[in-house]
Amino acid sequence: MKFFIDTANLDQIKEAQDLGVLDGVTTNPSLMAKEGITGADNIINHYKKICDIVTGDVSAEVIATDYEGIIKEGEQLAKLHDQIIVKVPMIKDGVKAIKYFSDKGIKTNCTLVFSAGQALLAAKAGATYVSPFIGRLDDISTDGLNLIAEIRLIYDNYGFNTQILAASVRHTMHVIDCAKIGADVMTGPLSSIEGLLKHPLTDIGLAKFLADYKKGN
Ligand code: G3P
Repeated sequence: MKFFIDTANLDQIKEAQDLGVLDGVTTNPSLMAKEGITGADNIINHYKKICDIVTGDVSAEVIATDYEGIIKEGEQLAKLHDQIIVKVPMIKDGVKAIKYFSDKGIKTNCTLVFSAGQALLAAKAGATYVSPFIGRLDDISTDGLNLIAEIRLIYDNYGFNTQILAASVRHTMHVIDCAKIGADVMTGPLSSIEGLLKHPLTDIGLAKFLADYKKGN
């Protein structure tokens, strides 16, 4: 299972990278705005900074919503760095654009996916990644993890190569449950990754080992 961090915060990206388990980064316009990164030039520079920190895939989202605009913007983003994955929304022109990018060998991440049917379309169009937003489904009393399971079943039925990127992961149990279901990737905040470290018996056990070591030295 790949671990992506879902942030545009460079300190958090560095921290996750230093842990040695980071496989990539996802961003979106809201995450950029949260860091105060606004304006096309600043956003592009920020993507370059992220690519300099990590070695894996970095999703960069298009703003255009029409086919020609998505193609133009996506091709510009893809040229920035070979780690860039063009993030395209699940809309009609987005699906057409994903097919175009796929035919040209440009990697894509189909975002804002909330149903199995949308995920099937993304795979048919040749998306590299599909991003079902599990936290936002949970927010409206709908089981986000069930969507991951449905997509896993459909992709396995037909051998689709599109990777399931569980997005809108909010906490550590989401990470574990996505791993059980077989999501290929999860993207979440740093806290969702660091939460995997924690167990009180580890802390108690380590304290005892160190205390016992000191007794004999
Ligand atoms: O990866 C998608 C993500 O950025 C959305 O997360 O927490 O805003 O639903 P959230």
